[in-house]
Amino acid sequence: MRMHDDIAEVLLGEEAIQARVKVLGEEISKAYTGRDLVIICILKGAVMFFADLARNIATPCEMDFMGISSYGGQMKTSGIVRISKDLDRSIFNKDVLIIEDIMDSGLTLNHLKQLLQSRNPRSLRIACLLDKPERRECDITPDYCGFIIPDRFVVGYGLDYDGQYRNLPYVGVLKPDVYEERP
Ligand code: IMP
Ligand code: MG
Repeated sequence: MRMHDDIAEVLLGEEAIQARVKVLGEEISKAYTGRDLVIICILKGAVMFFADLARNIATPCEMDFMGISSYGGQMKTSGIVRISKDLDRSIFNKDVLIIEDIMDSGLTLNHLKQLLQSRNPRSLRIACLLDKPERRECDITPDYCGFIIPDRFVVGYGLDYDGQYRNLPYVGVLKPDVYEERP
């Protein structure tokens, strides 16, 4: 299969992801018991993590979706965020948890956090499946993190390269020739 052939190495297999997501779900369930939780899926990268995490959250919650794209190249973001789909409902006075695929430079989430903070939620936290702390360019850390990973470009389980590979059930490192081939 062409898609799997493009992967140099599986970094996080399906079982490892599911086991970690279960633990995160339990932590979040405890932290938000009795609160007015809204979980926000950042499209499109967080879609797999969001769907799995949500099923491991035992406290009642609302779901909302936000589409963002940041200006910049395919493998690096500028952190300037454009909203392509805004939330459907107000988050005023709600306990909001942003669900994102990966924190890299941190610029995207830093910007998004400021934007959502201005809508005056009761609380605002971030859950990321992956974190590359070495790459950070601003002062931000996820409140919940699935895995800390080295500074390598990964795809799968929602993460893409040029719109592809999101449907891989694991997180893997792309063979360098895949992105060197294409301009
Ligand atoms: P940041 O603003 O640099 O933290 O970038 C975050 C966004 O960049 C993520 O939501 C991803 O869309 C993208 N990104 C960063 N690193 C990777 C990666 O290794 N694979 C795929 N996308 C990535
Ligand atoms: Mg993304």
